Amino acid sequence: MSEEKETIKERSSGFISVRDIPGVGSSIADKLEAAGYLSAWSIVVARAEELAERTGLPVLTVQKIIENARKMLGITFKTAREVKQERLNIGKITTGSKSLDELLGGGVETKTITEFFGEYGSGKTQICHQLSVNVQLTPEKGGLNGRAVYIDTEGTFRWERIEAMARALGLDPDKVMDNIYYMRAYNSDHQIAIVDELFTFVPKNDVRLVILDSVTSHFRAEYPGREHLAERQQKLNSHLHQLMRLAEAYNVAVVVTNQVMARPDVFYGDPTTAVGGHVLAHTPGVRIQLRKSKGNKRIARVVDAPHLPEGEVVFVITEEGIRDSEEE
Ligand SMILES: Nc1ncnc2c1ncn2[C@@H]1O[C@H](COP(=O)(O)OP(=O)(O)O)[C@@H](O)[C@H]1O
Ligand SMILES: [Mg+2]
Repeated sequence: MSEEKETIKERSSGFISVRDIPGVGSSIADKLEAAGYLSAWSIVVARAEELAERTGLPVLTVQKIIENARKMLGITFKTAREVKQERLNIGKITTGSKSLDELLGGGVETKTITEFFGEYGSGKTQICHQLSVNVQLTPEKGGLNGRAVYIDTEGTFRWERIEAMARALGLDPDKVMDNIYYMRAYNSDHQIAIVDELFTFVPKNDVRLVILDSVTSHFRAEYPGREHLAERQQKLNSHLHQLMRLAEAYNVAVVVTNQVMARPDVFYGDPTTAVGGHVLAHTPGVRIQLRKSKGNKRIARVVDAPHLPEGEVVFVITEEGIRDSEEE
């Protein structure tokens, strides 16, 4: 048993093509690849109906492929002890602020989606920059020795900030920048296609953090107003589920941002509405609300996460990056 487990573990860290799945011939493989399913893991975590719809293959065929992929990769029942072991495998990335890390239960976690939402200038993008640097640190220093993928929908990524943050940590800025894979997403379809591609890209490139800054802007622009609300939320939910599968399949942290208006009536009236509140209402994950305070101070608060400490923390945005507020 342990021998078999080891090969599975070995395999899961490398890339396994859909062509390796028993029973998948070249014509089926071509269809799967054309629909964006390149790795066996992307099949394991796919839903049969969705896979059938995207490939044009019959649902029964697709169910058989998923079953074979699961068998090949050893995805079956787990014992409670294995569940415990998997929980121990979860990695945490420091934000640069001890207080903010504590609020998050030790940092931004892998196998989950963390949403930072708040008004313009509340620090969402700065946190994303900082995390893409910090994920590269050693575990002793709060990193995961990994690389980052940065999907930018608003064109607010600045390599200068990465350079400054890397320097402040005593890291080689060029090396740090080499380990951040950047892509601009031009519309929501493009954004979804990029995430599909990540099922192949992430395991091949030691990626431990995927950033989407912001996850919502294209969806908001393309599905404006009340009349498109349901459709927008449905597309967004499906996108977020895909991201959740990515996080779980490859043990990576997924961080998304979501700009919301600073309108207390919308915020506190119903924080789950798509108009003003966070977007993770129907997806497991951690949601952090950010607010501006005096000067470079920012306030962070966890929204409906019973397993995390309640209350608010203050952090600051400095030239060096995200840090603790000295006054605390
Ligand atoms: N080089 C820097 N030094 C200090 N603070 C900075 C620097 N760059 C950006 N900031 C701070 O970050 C804020 C912008 O935060 P940002 O993360 O872009 O907000 P959001 O993405 O939530 O709209 C600026 O208002 C400024 O206070
Ligand atoms: Mg921003």
